[in-house]
Amino acid sequence: MGGTIIYSDNLDALRSIETGSIDLIYIDPPFNTGKLQKRTTIKVHAAHDGERVGFGDRRYRATVLGTRAFQDAFDDYLEFLRPRLEEAYRVLAPHGSLYFHIDYRWAHYCKILLDSIFGVDAFINEIIWAYDFGGRSKRRWPAKHDTIFFYAKDPERYYFNDEAIERIPYMAPGLVGAEKAARGKLPTDVWWHTIVPTNSKEKTGYPTQKPLGILRRIIAASSKPGDTVLDFFAGSGTTGIAAAELGRNFILVDNNQDALIVMARRFAGIPEISWVNFDPEPHRGSSSQQVLFEPSYAQPIK
Ligand SMILES: C[S@@+](CC[C@H](N)C(=O)[O-])C[C@H]1O[C@@H](n2cnc3c(N)ncnc32)[C@H](O)[C@@H]1O
Repeated sequence: MGGTIIYSDNLDALRSIETGSIDLIYIDPPFNTGKLQKRTTIKVHAAHDGERVGFGDRRYRATVLGTRAFQDAFDDYLEFLRPRLEEAYRVLAPHGSLYFHIDYRWAHYCKILLDSIFGVDAFINEIIWAYDFGGRSKRRWPAKHDTIFFYAKDPERYYFNDEAIERIPYMAPGLVGAEKAARGKLPTDVWWHTIVPTNSKEKTGYPTQKPLGILRRIIAASSKPGDTVLDFFAGSGTTGIAAAELGRNFILVDNNQDALIVMARRFAGIPEISWVNFDPEPHRGSSSQQVLFEPSYAQPIK
């Protein structure tokens, strides 16, 4: 069991992966919002002349450790994605699946692109990840969901294990009887799940980090222990952490040094990881950091 973390443009990395060797792909490409996604990390120290006042009038000073950002405006987003998705299709095993995470502004364009590469019949589900956090527009229904498209390489042969999916409580347990209520039900294609909570242990400070709970569910259902899971828009490495927890191998790719630095800390205790084009050791550092700003997907729609 092991993982490979590659610092590279993902098209180059994908071209080096053997055809048919990957069991599951999850990707969360930067949404083409045209905004610069930013996150500032601070460390807080007690200081008698500090600018922040806390409990019992104690004063603190905040030091800005750095701002991480990535430019997610691409001139032609779909033409950027197309060759990468073609490679994704090539590297998937015949029983393999792709989960493609996107926001509602681009989902319909991406669906057509995915249909053209995988085939309309290979489309299995549109999963709606619904969360409830951040501001609320008074001019429209507040947008509080992302879309995850699920495609199979071969709709007749793809691996899917409903027994491995963690069951969830019924909405109205009184209507189904005690035994069923105790067992819970299988989730549908609408997944209610909180975003990564601010100040939780899970939070890395990387913008757009996705919850481990979402990745655990995907990996448990669509791969087996010992399989290989690929995420070539890896960010903070959430897919790799969930894969390692569930006994899967993983390959992560990102071309942003900030992502690799976050992963260096996040994977510090995890054995058997090969790093390609990057030395994690100087970046292991302390993890006592706080995150200031919420991710852009939690901001109110203007
Ligand atoms: C939305 S974030 C992924 C967040 C991730 N799911 C997580 O939980 O942290 C998208 C990532 O894609 C990376 N990226 C964008 N273009 C890339 C490229 N051409 N090659 C590799 N990585 C790329 C960005 O650096 C960014 O980290």
